[in-house]
Amino acid sequence: MKVERKQSVVLVPFLLQGHLTPMLQLGSILHSQGFSVIVAHTQHNAPNYSNHPEFVFHSMDDGLKGMDMSFPGLKSIYRMNESCKAPLRNYLVRMMEEEEEGDQLACIIYDNVMFFVDDVATQLKLPSIVLRTFSAACMHSMVTIFQQPEKYFPFEDSQLLDPLPELHPLRFKDVPIHVINNTVPEPVLDFYKRINDIGSSVATIWNTMQDLENSMLLRLQKHYKVPFFPIGPFPKMVPLASLTSILEEDNSCIEWLDRQTPNSVLYVSLGSLVRIDEKELIETAWGLANSEQPFLWVIRPGSVSGFQCAEALPDGYEEMVGERGRIVKWAPQKQVLAHPAIAGFFTHCGWNSTLESICEQVPMICRPSLADQLVNARYLSQIYKVGFELEVMERTVIEKTIRKLMLSEEGKDVKKRVIDMKQNIVAAMQIDGTSHKNLKDLVDFISALPSRLPPATPVVGAIMSSNHTPSKCIIESRS
Ligand code: UDX
Repeated sequence: MKVERKQSVVLVPFLLQGHLTPMLQLGSILHSQGFSVIVAHTQHNAPNYSNHPEFVFHSMDDGLKGMDMSFPGLKSIYRMNESCKAPLRNYLVRMMEEEEEGDQLACIIYDNVMFFVDDVATQLKLPSIVLRTFSAACMHSMVTIFQQPEKYFPFEDSQLLDPLPELHPLRFKDVPIHVINNTVPEPVLDFYKRINDIGSSVATIWNTMQDLENSMLLRLQKHYKVPFFPIGPFPKMVPLASLTSILEEDNSCIEWLDRQTPNSVLYVSLGSLVRIDEKELIETAWGLANSEQPFLWVIRPGSVSGFQCAEALPDGYEEMVGERGRIVKWAPQKQVLAHPAIAGFFTHCGWNSTLESICEQVPMICRPSLADQLVNARYLSQIYKVGFELEVMERTVIEKTIRKLMLSEEGKDVKKRVIDMKQNIVAAMQIDGTSHKNLKDLVDFISALPSRLPPATPVVGAIMSSNHTPSKCIIESRS
């Protein structure tokens, strides 16, 4: 299914780790299918070029210099979208001027948070495709809520545990949108609507599996009316050692894992964005210590409010747990999860971490904090039943939940289910599996795109082209 190496795709990732990783992985996947890959990225959190000698990189002036980017807010995201417009447009214009016969720019693929790309692509009449980095379940919940926000907001405190209408198994407390005083402020609502919109893009790519999320994908496709390509899981489609981390990975923890008994260690990490307070850190520390299970714990610099790093831990904590516990600032997570010593993952349920855990058949303790993590945690614990939800951050509850996952019969059942889930994923990636077929269709789709879209040119594409939905659709391109 490979194309001639000459066709190029330009990828525009969003600058957060959880978004950069899947876009770079997609780049590797498309490169392996014969495309030349150009990554147009922001200056902030620029990827490490030396990890991807196969890509061409282009740095865009993002206008973010001097802004506090420890937790990017709406102001910085809008500013970045505005600032990057001219650099991307100028770069693409130059590329198009220098194009030769058989060496053409096929399309731009962008993260939905980089919504400025739609304007640039429309101006230049270039086809664009959106990469969705969230699960289909999360996108479905957002789309449903935005269709009738008045049905959901404002809500009462007493409703927090009530089911969200039409969104089983979610409750009001699981709304994946930034809620303030039980409602969503207008600017936040506008922002989410903006990133949900795919503008005039001709298709969407999903880091998920059709077999896992088929019903959600079908519902979403009715809404967006463009071809969908669920080709995931990306973590299983690129080499384990492919490096996408912005922070430096501490590989010494692999040697520590090598010294541990197989299937004995709990890996603890809350991803690249979540911040906890000192109280939660201390409760977690005692929960881990009292569980008496070996653990590898990532405490990212800046992840505990008011502290630089692990100095918020009780005095003498590391000496007290000794060889049974290992604390690092950032781990090579994919290698960690693939290590035979790992028995469980205490996670914030970011979509990348979720997929990485399932791909390595590691059952989870779900402690979500914000956005899509809340939806993922509910699906993992209530629908797929491959994890236990942790909703009270007290040491005794944490200790009990860890023991349940690592030592109980219930824990064994969860492990069995995650093994089944992993096997389904492997099947989807085999020839004739849905992800494999969808990737083939994506390659054909991109190769067949008209390189400059004249007004109202119909783009013909398969809707989730594998067996489940063999129908074809015609999409009106931008006018
Ligand atoms: C954010 C959101 O929180 C998440 O919900 C959304 O789906 C994507 O954007 P993040 O919080 O970083 O992402 O979570 P996640 O999606 O899990 O991505 C984190 C990535 O960092 C994973 O690929 C993980 O392997 C990597 N990581 C994490 C490391 O390499 N080392 C670590 O120590 C911790």
